[in-house]
Amino acid sequence: MKKFLFALTALAMVACSTAPQMSKEEKEAFKFADKLIKKMTLQEKIGQLQQFVTGKGVVTGPDGEKRNIEEAIRQGTVGSFLNIYSTEEYIHLQKIAVEESRLGIPLIFGFDIIHGCRIQFPENLASSCSWDIEGIEHSARIAAEESAAMGIHWTFSPMCDVSADPRWGRVSEGSGEDPYLGAKIAAAMVRGYQGDDLSSDKTVAACVKHFAAYGVPQAGRDYHTVDMSELMFRNRYLPPYKAAIEAGAVTAMSSFNDFMGVPASGNKWLMHTLLREELGFTGFVVSDYAAVHEMIKHGTAADGKDAAYQSMNAHLNMDMVRGDYIAFGEELVKEGKVSEKTINMLCREVLAVKYRLGLFDDPFKYGRQNQDEVVYRPENLEFAREVAAKSMVLLTNNGVLPLNEGVKIALVGPLADSKRDQMGAWIGYGEAERSVTIREALEKRYGKSNVLYAKGSDFRAPIKGGIAEAVRAARKADVVLLSIGLSYKESGEATSLTEITVPEAQQELLDALKKTGKKIVVLLGTGRAMDIRNEVEKADAVLVTWHGGTMEGPAVADLVSGDKNPSGHLTMSFPYCVGQVPVHYNMKVTGRPRKSPTQKSKYISRYMYTPNEPLFPFGYGLSYSEFEYSDLQVLTPEVELGGVVKVSVKVANKGKYDGDDVAQLYVRDVVAETTRPMRELKGFERFSLKAGEEKVLTFEIPTSDLAYCHSDMSFKADAGEFKVWVGADSNAQLEGVFTLK
Ligand code: BGC
Repeated sequence: MKKFLFALTALAMVACSTAPQMSKEEKEAFKFADKLIKKMTLQEKIGQLQQFVTGKGVVTGPDGEKRNIEEAIRQGTVGSFLNIYSTEEYIHLQKIAVEESRLGIPLIFGFDIIHGCRIQFPENLASSCSWDIEGIEHSARIAAEESAAMGIHWTFSPMCDVSADPRWGRVSEGSGEDPYLGAKIAAAMVRGYQGDDLSSDKTVAACVKHFAAYGVPQAGRDYHTVDMSELMFRNRYLPPYKAAIEAGAVTAMSSFNDFMGVPASGNKWLMHTLLREELGFTGFVVSDYAAVHEMIKHGTAADGKDAAYQSMNAHLNMDMVRGDYIAFGEELVKEGKVSEKTINMLCREVLAVKYRLGLFDDPFKYGRQNQDEVVYRPENLEFAREVAAKSMVLLTNNGVLPLNEGVKIALVGPLADSKRDQMGAWIGYGEAERSVTIREALEKRYGKSNVLYAKGSDFRAPIKGGIAEAVRAARKADVVLLSIGLSYKESGEATSLTEITVPEAQQELLDALKKTGKKIVVLLGTGRAMDIRNEVEKADAVLVTWHGGTMEGPAVADLVSGDKNPSGHLTMSFPYCVGQVPVHYNMKVTGRPRKSPTQKSKYISRYMYTPNEPLFPFGYGLSYSEFEYSDLQVLTPEVELGGVVKVSVKVANKGKYDGDDVAQLYVRDVVAETTRPMRELKGFERFSLKAGEEKVLTFEIPTSDLAYCHSDMSFKADAGEFKVWVGADSNAQLEGVFTLK
């Protein structure tokens, strides 16, 4: 019988209230802000809480009123702008703020640097499949350097929304279905963006978004309602936000959705109780785009004034876009609905971040660099190529890959030569003309005459003669590389889908090519997990290339040629069909679990005609080599709370190719206080082995990582037995047991 560790040990306490001590620079920043606030009028203070888009010098207020933004800057009634595409404009507006407003308070410029600035890395879901935390941090660092050179101070990234719903297009911006991996990636991105010195002209402020639980909209429809228990939220969704905050992110963004019935932008529990009081966040929160005003549509605010009243009192610092703060803030204070103390608090948090960015010291340090020296550095492009290759996931291969030298290739499909689509959604400062396509890279690798290109089809419609041309190319070739999937417009915000199969026009193309009898390699371009039963059945190999960014083409050439060995592993399960969604490895057990995938009894938790399991589980990914896992040893069969669980496993490369693999460790709390996931990822290691080599990996899991939120919301680990598995995906079979004392 299991005992629960009810005594809140020091360790468990640490886990639930991590409020860090304020650093010296934070204190200094607040001291500066407090001094400045004393000189500010009420309107100037509220101005710092207002963010606008510029729209060629004019913005429209909630009442349709047009504002002259330059005049607004002079008056101090705006403190920030977002998504400006021109360095000159940044400098021009900053000059007005610094030289022509009464107190010369600099503006802060935010921008969506989601997966790169000029150089686009693969979409975030893709790069999470590299499980390469250092690589992801370095990508964020490159993005920060390029952004700062453009004049950007602040990126609206990382997106920390855990999601297991591929109907929701924004899964492309996140790190998949797992909170543990998601937390490691979120923290790495914050470190990458912010570095050790926020005031450097090579770093930008990060933004933890979308707070909170934006990744779980009902039925996968973007902006839809979110409803879940606090227990579920804390255990599955909170970890990446928390990790990003602990890594020092200085801003956060409230989400569009409601949470426990209250829209996030007016949700005091989220933004004050949890974020500030519990997690110790000291930065500022910006609303998502017009999300303050949207509380009217949510049906929880009567009008813009009511919305501003709720958001200000909920501890939301900055109103993105609609202008309710600046329109109604003063009135609300005069009527006693929002205290000036609250305004001071909201304002000082904004000013402190501006101070920490070094903007008071030198408001023009961002955007002054020689951009030509900073952007598109050759070594960074090479790095983007590596990240893209590490992100791609080989799902099936009957031996057709890698291709033989001297092979003649028919390259077909709407993604094979589309500079824009391969970059994916949200490319900000990205420039499609800089993308190197699969076609260009293969022509370089194999010679132009050995690559017969035919587009074959558009994404959702046939093209006249397209199939016939593709078939002609296939007949002349040894192998068909078929680059199909979803366009960049079917990825990211507002791209929810109820069908997650490859669109019909492209399936017809596949069918026609299949009839030629040639070997077919499907290169699946997508920003989400998909139902690819059809492609798996018909193709000789399936490589998920995602939307791989600027350097996708060379990365694909590296992999199909065998110059590099695939090593990506899925971070989001590929469902068997959309009806299973959400399907993820860390689902909870039930009182009537299915004992095996083939068990047929009636009154158990299963579908009548469909498997419970996804087609490809979380963690899955093949290599040209064969990695064998054996000899799992639990080195610490009994561990005291506060100690470290140690598990070793032997890994061997039994194949002909050198390669990398990702060893994953999963645990299960056998008898817990609440229902728990079947398995939870608690450790992983990306390792390299030459053909024929082997080595022993040792995982060290601090027992604090076994803690979870209990029914009384306390965060602690349970004493008793835990199962542990290690392997190359979430179905890992090597098993051990340890006991937490
Ligand atoms: C998105 C945010 C983004 C913001 C600013 C919104 O529509 O949800 O993720 O940061 O726009 O562009």
